[in-house]
Amino acid sequence: VSFVERTTAPSTIGSLAADLSQLGVRPGMTLLVHSSLSAIGYVCGGAVAVVDALLSAVGAEGTLVMPTHTGDLSEPSQWKHPAVPEAWWPVIRGETPAFDPRTTPTRGMGAVVEVFRTWRGTLRSAHPRGSFAARGPNAQTITGAHTLEASFGEGSPLARLYDLDASVLLLGVGFDRNTSFHLAEHRAQCRPQVVQGTPMLEDGARVWKTYADLDYDAGPFADIGAAFLAAGRARSGTIGAAEAHLFSQRDCVDFAVMRLP
Ligand SMILES: CC(C)(COP(=O)(O)OP(=O)(O)OC[C@H]1O[C@@H](n2cnc3c(N)ncnc32)[C@H](O)[C@@H]1OP(=O)(O)O)[C@@H](O)C(=O)NCCC(=O)NCCS
Repeated sequence: VSFVERTTAPSTIGSLAADLSQLGVRPGMTLLVHSSLSAIGYVCGGAVAVVDALLSAVGAEGTLVMPTHTGDLSEPSQWKHPAVPEAWWPVIRGETPAFDPRTTPTRGMGAVVEVFRTWRGTLRSAHPRGSFAARGPNAQTITGAHTLEASFGEGSPLARLYDLDASVLLLGVGFDRNTSFHLAEHRAQCRPQVVQGTPMLEDGARVWKTYADLDYDAGPFADIGAAFLAAGRARSGTIGAAEAHLFSQRDCVDFAVMRLP
């Protein structure tokens, strides 16, 4: 069923802002959003209208944050979706253009993120693989110092969001997309280390840079999310036609640390 067929009435900036407020999004919040545009059903103005509604819901005193990951700027021998022939690995390491926070498109993050990352005033952290974009008073604190090692660990925007007691909004996507659980993987010390690789600029020159990261595994995230919902830890509702969940990032990280295998 297409996103048009699932739509009773088209969503607008105003109706989306009202839905967000109904769900519990408040001015002044620091809000990390994971989204699917098509899940909302037809939106007048598409991704632009969704960004506009999110910005008006958190207000000028709030900070909007989204993941702007670039999963393709990573060690090709570890790729699974899809895997590529071993003979290509040296070419990929040698030729993939370096990450540039201004221009490198995101991979698998969605149309809303692609609009938000180029919105006037949006900042993006410098991590070549696991960057985040943020706009608002806390944007610099969140994106300013993102360590290369441990992409989603204590030196990442996820840890700053934890410090800031941010909220998370899953907008038409499930807990398998809840990136904050990666911070919990660090804190639970439940994953082995791997050597990651990525093309980045160093002193103005492109290099293939290797670094230590965790062997992240989102496999258990959906089940932990289901337990989190069953424990009544989120506010759930709809944004347009999309199922949505709003919750405390600290609470979900602490919850996952206790439950990760
Ligand atoms: C992968 C993912 C982005 C796919 O969602 P999606 O809704 O299919 O895709 P997008 O959000 O990019 O939206 C584009 C789609 O919206 C639909 N669309 C187009 N115009 C639209 C409009 N005006 N109103 C509503 N939907 C519209 C189309 O189906 C379009 O797909 P197309 O470009 O192939 O035609 C989503 O499932 C997801 O996982 N999002 C979260 C990502 C994330 O935060 N990950 C964290 C790290 S794991």
